[in-house]
Amino acid sequence: MRPTEARVDLRRLSDNFRCLRSVVGPEVGVIAVVKADAYGHGAPRVARLLEGVGVWGFGVATVEEGAELRAAGVRLPILVMGAAFGDRHDAVIEHDLTPVVGDPGDVDRFAEAASRADRVRFGIHVKIDTGMTRLGVMARELDAFLRRCARYPSIRVDGLATHFACAEEPDASSTEQQLALFVECLHAVRAVGGDPQVIHAANSAAALRFPDARFDLVRTGLVLYGALPSSEVPDPGFKPVMSLRTRINAMRDAPAGTRISYSATYVTSRPSRIATLPVGYADGYPRALSNRAEVLVRGRRAPVVGRVCMDLCMVDVTDVPGTAVGDTVTLLGEDGDDSITPDELAGWAQTISYEVLAGIGKRVPRVYVGEEPAFSEEPETRREERP
Ligand SMILES: Cc1ncc(COP(=O)(O)O)c(C=O)c1O
Repeated sequence: MRPTEARVDLRRLSDNFRCLRSVVGPEVGVIAVVKADAYGHGAPRVARLLEGVGVWGFGVATVEEGAELRAAGVRLPILVMGAAFGDRHDAVIEHDLTPVVGDPGDVDRFAEAASRADRVRFGIHVKIDTGMTRLGVMARELDAFLRRCARYPSIRVDGLATHFACAEEPDASSTEQQLALFVECLHAVRAVGGDPQVIHAANSAAALRFPDARFDLVRTGLVLYGALPSSEVPDPGFKPVMSLRTRINAMRDAPAGTRISYSATYVTSRPSRIATLPVGYADGYPRALSNRAEVLVRGRRAPVVGRVCMDLCMVDVTDVPGTAVGDTVTLLGEDGDDSITPDELAGWAQTISYEVLAGIGKRVPRVYVGEEPAFSEEPETRREERP
């Protein structure tokens, strides 16, 4: 094993799910968004755990992500939200995935694929673009879109969805406008006899801030992983699920005036102890953290000095007495009373916690801890128990 590893605390994941549940209430289901390898946490493990604690289903971006979950034994509904189906319409049906559709051409192609697969009924969710300007049917085209769906006896509209652009922003007005338009669309659909089983709109920020946006299901990613979309979002007590740690693999005594790393962007101003860590931007520790981030060593903060390299970076441990080769270094997570959160790391890198978490690279081994007893059973056994 590399000394650099990402620890994923499954107990915290289920605690975060319960915490979300306690906020949205038992009558609202949860679509756990596990795209991008569950924001870097490892989608199969995350999904299998959440399947056991009561989520309604999962949201992924691509057909391949959905197929990976099916191969891992996940049985609950999996929504493919990314809409880039390409020529994979047959694969969506084969893997029993549920596409979120907003392009009329996709309706035709799913109907054709359903007929090739001898599927009498195939459920889709329809996405309405209420202001994100990204994917989905424009509200004014919804009627024509639904008529197109109705042309195919095999296509059944099981769900209606939208996505908010600004739910984490201080100004609530744009979310309120999107919500009002979405509600108008729902009325219009019901007025022509449409009766989708489930309505969903809210991402993490909307689920926590806009109770009216919860409908039947919330579609949450970030809060399940223990980070908040912004400081506007109330924190009911989510805890970061992932930590990133490594071990010092070299130490240098650096006299004052020593230049450190590529381009010598840092020069020591005093006699210093410099530790080299086997983690770099190829592991998802962004180069933007150069001369900006801090790490935890022996429960104390130490600054990253010089450029973060592809596979390595350096920290100044002069003020952490006794530091030695082999010491554990926390880049993300807790050490003693202190912790570095995804938000703090994202702030240093001038990005968002989503990008930090999803960016932790494939070559960093994931170590899963804190499994619940129920989850240690074989997935096959658990599947048989489910109705
Ligand atoms: C369509 C859609 N729904 C829900 C989510 C989940 O968002 P969050 O992680 O903020 O809960 C995303 C994530 O970007 C998304 O693209």
